[in-house]
Amino acid sequence: MKIAILPGDGIGPEIIAQAVKVLNALGEPFELETAPVGGAGYAQHGHPLPEATLALAKAADAVLFGAVGDYRYDNLERALRPEQAILGLRKHLGLFANFRPAVLYPELANASTLKPEVVAGLDILIIRELTGDIYFGQPRGMRSCPDGPFQGQREGYDTMRYAEGEIRRIAHVAFQAAQKRDKRLTSVDKANVLETFQFWRDIMTEVGKDYPDVTLDHMYVDNAAMQLVRAPKKFDVMVTGNMFGDILSDCAAQLTGSIGMLPSASLDANNKGLYEPSHGSAPDIAGKGIANPLATILSAAMLLRFSLNRAEQADRIDAAVKAVLAQGLRTADIYEAGTRRVGTEEMGDAVVKALA
Ligand code: NAI
Ligand code: MG
Repeated sequence: MKIAILPGDGIGPEIIAQAVKVLNALGEPFELETAPVGGAGYAQHGHPLPEATLALAKAADAVLFGAVGDYRYDNLERALRPEQAILGLRKHLGLFANFRPAVLYPELANASTLKPEVVAGLDILIIRELTGDIYFGQPRGMRSCPDGPFQGQREGYDTMRYAEGEIRRIAHVAFQAAQKRDKRLTSVDKANVLETFQFWRDIMTEVGKDYPDVTLDHMYVDNAAMQLVRAPKKFDVMVTGNMFGDILSDCAAQLTGSIGMLPSASLDANNKGLYEPSHGSAPDIAGKGIANPLATILSAAMLLRFSLNRAEQADRIDAAVKAVLAQGLRTADIYEAGTRRVGTEEMGDAVVKALA
């Protein structure tokens, strides 16, 4: 079983090193092969997604991805910026379903910025569609504003779009995920304003007829944002488009105490997938050895569960993460008085130790 390891830039290499330690400690015959991506890809091969890296990702059974987005590359043309690597991988691997489980570990009840009673016991799953929406729609670009009070001025524009089949396949994924949980699905849209998301709502309702055991409700995205911080435990599974999902999942991340705790899986139609922490490359703390590696380690657990059929090993990792939190070990982002502050490596070592 081959796992492609793509550390990326910023804190990527630091956090991936901890997940690799954990994978190696499982005693399974995994073949781990590393390749540069993002800023590291650009620095070594002049491209954020070098051909050899893409070939490795395609050949592997699953991909473990760190993060990309080093500010040093911000001034490059868009096609060469680090973020293009993750967009390119999603596209070339056909990854359309992004799973972000937001779970609050009881030990972190006070790490959240929300009141403990609001978040205690939180366990929700956000499913974000990854291939459509305003992120990829054409046409896009700059032009001269065609009408209105700003006519003739420069104007930036993008196109929001969703094809029927694109909505159907994410709907099926979401209903099936809800079937395995509490059987409640909230579809988040903006049907009151956007044609694209009225269509989304209609298709969700239609597909829902195939899943009579799942309760479907619809919510506008602005209300969903409010409910996520007001009463997040009311949700079970949420499904939404690419942009709303991007924003809501960061919001949900904070419910868990820190974005450094939130793993993610991006899957294709056959459960081949790319696994990565939900956060970016955190250039503000890169190289300091203080990044929280747990989201990445938990992403490795998701990889074992979804793509490699190793649920038992995934459970071992989840249990080890719980154990280190119970021991009171905290990276800076989840630190509170009375716990012990540790760095990235020490946290990784503690998880490895807890595995045994
Ligand atoms: P970010 O997620 O990198 O950082 C946001 C804040 O959270 C920062 O204060 C950072 O220090 C903190 N943080 C993030 N991960 C952490 C961890 N593991 N432990 C402790 N603290 C952590 O988001 P930001 O700053 O908006 O973006 C930085 C760069 O990352 C940008 O270039 C962005 O495009 C890129 N990015 C890449 C993603 C990816 O690789 N999939 C996803 C999101 C952003
Ligand atoms: Mg994001």
